[in-house]
Amino acid sequence: MASKLSLAMLLLLAVAGQLAAGARAGSIAIYWGQNGNEDSLAETCATGNFKFVNVAFLYTFGMGQTPLLNLAGHCDPASNGCTFLAAQVKSCQSRGVKVLLSIGGGVGSYGLSSVADAKNVSRYLWDNYLGGKSTSRPLGDAVLDGVDFDIESGNSAHWDDLARELKQLSTPYRPVYLAAAPQCPFPDASLGPAIDKGLFDFVWVQFYNNPPCQFNASAGVGNLESAWNRWTRIPAKQVFLGLPAAPDAAGSGFIQPSDLISTVLPVVKKSGKYGGIMLWSRFYDLQTDPTYTDKVKASV
Ligand SMILES: *[C@@H]1O[C@H](CO)[C@@H](O)[C@H](O)[C@H]1NC(C)=O
Ligand SMILES: *[C@@H]1O[C@H](CO)[C@@H](O)[C@H](O)[C@H]1NC(C)=O
Repeated sequence: MASKLSLAMLLLLAVAGQLAAGARAGSIAIYWGQNGNEDSLAETCATGNFKFVNVAFLYTFGMGQTPLLNLAGHCDPASNGCTFLAAQVKSCQSRGVKVLLSIGGGVGSYGLSSVADAKNVSRYLWDNYLGGKSTSRPLGDAVLDGVDFDIESGNSAHWDDLARELKQLSTPYRPVYLAAAPQCPFPDASLGPAIDKGLFDFVWVQFYNNPPCQFNASAGVGNLESAWNRWTRIPAKQVFLGLPAAPDAAGSGFIQPSDLISTVLPVVKKSGKYGGIMLWSRFYDLQTDPTYTDKVKASV
């Protein structure tokens, strides 16, 4: 009896230990959709490597424009050819992966001209990608888990209005998660005001294409560390280290897996706001075998 009890105690301690380790561990968010030669959405989720997949991009919206989705070679939204992805979104969700619609991106035509425009876009997103109804849902009847703001052009006005409108549609029963992907110079030129207002659950900061705030293998982690320490003071639940998944994925800022594990992760993990890493993108992740994610995930 005594030995059985102590065995139970040991098991309990082992489980508690794993839970504690799990609480410390970060998760991985990845962008999917901008290259037809990457895995399918369902395959990406089936790796078990990702907690968030940002489906990119809704690249045209606002300013009275008819919103347009672009998923590169995956499917053609214009001919209603992407609705088959509904089943894939659901398969991701059944594995515990949160699937977000990423709005914006590096190319495209988007912006918000007024509070009314922000409300109109919010309504569109709700009806077509979230819990609302529309006869022309690009991803069919899948209800996405939220919206990722990857706003890289235009002014900073009204992104806070859009985020607030979307957040008002969130309920405990059906949360609408909001994420932002600012550049690493602080504050972000487009999303600064919305980030200040604490409207985002997850902020994955792009620590690339910006030498003054990114990692540099010869100069060290200092630039990234100062920027990270500023970013982790924002009012967001979690901050993620956004990185290119391959050297070609960005103009600069790629971090070798060995440097990430030995030098960068120990620094960023000091913050209680650390949520994990974000990668651009699944296509680049797949450029090596094993993938970038496979090489680093045990340390994230
Ligand atoms: C409102 O959004 C719709 C898309 O849902 C768009 O077609 C329309 O032009 C927008 N209206 C205004 C006034 O911007
Ligand atoms: C990295 O640091 C070295 C040495 O300080 C510098 O010469 C180089 O330009 C830096 N690289 C980038 C991409 O900033």
